[in-house]
Amino acid sequence: MMTINPTGTPVWAEILIIPIALIALSIARHIIQQLLFPNKDEPPLVFSWLPFIGSTIDYGIDPYKFYFKYQKKYGNIFSFVLVGKKHTVCLGLEGNNFVLNSSVSEISAADIYRGLTLPIFGKDVCYDCSPAKLMEQKKLLKYSLTADKLDSFVPVFLDVMQNYVEHAEDFQGNEGVFDVVECMAVTTIFTAAASLQGKEVREKLDQGLADLYHTLDLSFIPINFYLPGLPLPVNRRRDEAHKKIAAIYTNIINRRRALGGESAREADDDMIWSLMRSTYKDGTPVPDHEIANLMIGLLMAGQHNAYSVGSWILFRLASRPDIQKALYQEQREALGTDLIISARRDLVSKLPLHKMVVRETLRLHDPIHTVMRAVKVPLTFTSTSRSYKIPTSHVLISAPGVTAQSAEYFPEPDKWEPRRWEAMTDFLERGEKRGAMSAFLPFGAGRHRCVGEEFAYLQLCTIIAYMVRNFVFRPMEGEGVPKTDYTAMLTRPVLPARLQWEKRSKE
Ligand code: HEM
Repeated sequence: MMTINPTGTPVWAEILIIPIALIALSIARHIIQQLLFPNKDEPPLVFSWLPFIGSTIDYGIDPYKFYFKYQKKYGNIFSFVLVGKKHTVCLGLEGNNFVLNSSVSEISAADIYRGLTLPIFGKDVCYDCSPAKLMEQKKLLKYSLTADKLDSFVPVFLDVMQNYVEHAEDFQGNEGVFDVVECMAVTTIFTAAASLQGKEVREKLDQGLADLYHTLDLSFIPINFYLPGLPLPVNRRRDEAHKKIAAIYTNIINRRRALGGESAREADDDMIWSLMRSTYKDGTPVPDHEIANLMIGLLMAGQHNAYSVGSWILFRLASRPDIQKALYQEQREALGTDLIISARRDLVSKLPLHKMVVRETLRLHDPIHTVMRAVKVPLTFTSTSRSYKIPTSHVLISAPGVTAQSAEYFPEPDKWEPRRWEAMTDFLERGEKRGAMSAFLPFGAGRHRCVGEEFAYLQLCTIIAYMVRNFVFRPMEGEGVPKTDYTAMLTRPVLPARLQWEKRSKE
């Protein structure tokens, strides 16, 4: 029976009336503040009806659409409320440079990413250490990514691809349908692990390892940006997967040390060996748990992006049979019939159209749509001769994908046209010189710039070379290039993401 108090109001209504009034008041305050008291010194704020939620939904559904919409309205700087916090977006060449090139005393990547990445990568690496230590770690990783080392990866990549196709259920027979994202997720993790992490990891490559990494990948979800410690099943699985993968690497290191360390190393050198003999600038050897965590961080950083780009490449190729044919022709002319033997040295420069395919896909499908930094001291950004103050309570955003998709820099920007890059050597050279003042920065710029760019081009070019050499791809009946799913924090094709394949007749 409903309880009524002496005034005749049901008790549940009396209990709810205060919270409802408070919410209504806070909504009214939020709206009035935006309409009547905007802070003129700060960037224009995207209007929203609700406090805390602000523009979260609008932004989350399609960040690029959001950026372009408000760039048109406000220019290259504006702020919006995302999960209760004001975020300031800086666009255009100056915006890219301002965010990516500010100094560590002004901005911080670690303050933003540490909560999300610490449980995935583990302690004392990447954003769980000082910016200076991260720079040292990146330098150490770079030693294993020299041109000579990269050349030696090509046969490993091709071997992994061959093995994958021979065993994958989707690729049996002469034609069929395959799950593009699944195929790219497995082949990018296997090619990276097999090439960078040496013999023992190569021997362990099976679905089990791919599943462990996939489990880590699944925890890259927006909620974990803000509340990484929530006791969600996805986080419990993440923590178990981290422990298991870290144990694989520490066992490898222990076994190598038990066999005599560096003196027991055969000709095979890899990133684990390289880190085992490395020291920081002060002479401290890299601790074993850091080697294990760097291996996880590196594979996650690379694979997360590479599988997304690889998937988009296959969808784009399926919708452009002319480019598939041209790629096949390019391989035949540059490498002859035996791709495996002859492809070893300097593969990417031998296959310029393959590289343009990767580059054009990065332009339209940059996997990282939003780069964030915490603001450590009040900053000033000047756009079209107007200066704005950015207080420390804001988060700073760079989205170089916006310049990469702007007609100002790329005619007919929505068209996927790899050959546009033939006429853009000047643009690329200028970009090299101008660092972060470039319209095309899929690998970032400044101190957080990617260490894996050459690796990624080589890996993706080799994977496409292998796929195009062996198969012809077609979209599913009535389907084209899929829409983008932004919920996984990177620009991934909406699932199910499938294509038809047919074995290529080797004419
Ligand atoms: C298509 C593939 C890839 C793309 C699009 C990509 C993109 C990026 C971007 C945009 C950044 C800068 C992030 C920021 O400023 O916050 C970055 C950093 C980084 N990437 Fe990559 N990456 C790719 C592949 C790889 C690979 C293969 C590796 C390793 C072999 C790698 C390792 C790293 C590392 C260690 C950082 C440094 C993080 C930091 O200093 O904060 N990436 N990457």
